[in-house]
Amino acid sequence: MVIAIDGPAGAGKSSVARGVAAALGFTYLDTGAMYRCVALASLRRSRPPGELAEQISLDLGRRVLLDGEDVTEAIRAPEVSERASQVAADPAVRRAMVAEQRRIMAHGDWVADGRDIGTVVAPDAALKVFLTADPRERARRRAAEMGADPETVLAEQMIRDERDRNRPESPLRAAEGAVQLDTTGLTLEQVVERVVALARSERAAAR
Ligand code: DC
Repeated sequence: MVIAIDGPAGAGKSSVARGVAAALGFTYLDTGAMYRCVALASLRRSRPPGELAEQISLDLGRRVLLDGEDVTEAIRAPEVSERASQVAADPAVRRAMVAEQRRIMAHGDWVADGRDIGTVVAPDAALKVFLTADPRERARRRAAEMGADPETVLAEQMIRDERDRNRPESPLRAAEGAVQLDTTGLTLEQVVERVVALARSERAAAR
């Protein structure tokens, strides 16, 4: 069974996805980390990102390995976030990432988070959730995580949101049949509980 969790940066996707995966005994797939690895590779090597996306080897366990190197922290740097949003608009990069994500999730129980999981990667997912939150709240959460200035984070977030929403290739939007959940003012536990309850009722209905 696949649970797809999409939404803009800072809506709480990765914390929610990790919490849901732990509660249900599913495996978590961080698809944003995959785009971030392509971005890091393209900052280091002057090759077309589409070509790099085909060539790199990724290991997405508890630590993220790019061609065998632990890049778990390196892929969270602001310049990588910015480059990730650019490479994610490249159709050749998306093709390679989507194929890899489908291959990974072909068997077993998964919670995947990203921007296009419910719309493109796994439109047949048993449960699709679209998480949102007020932009100021999202920037505040990210800034607290990174120890950065909330106003700067908000300004950068607006540019990336805009790019993710308006790119011609797989723009960020809620999938058909997705449950929309506004996390503003909710605790992580409340959101996890709600998604777990939805997943359990999907599973019961499928039996
Ligand atoms: O979720 P994140 O911030 O780690 O994602 C990094 C970038 O990759 C962000 O600009 C959105 C993009 N992305 C995407 O286009 N599709 C996905 N499935 C996941 C991330």
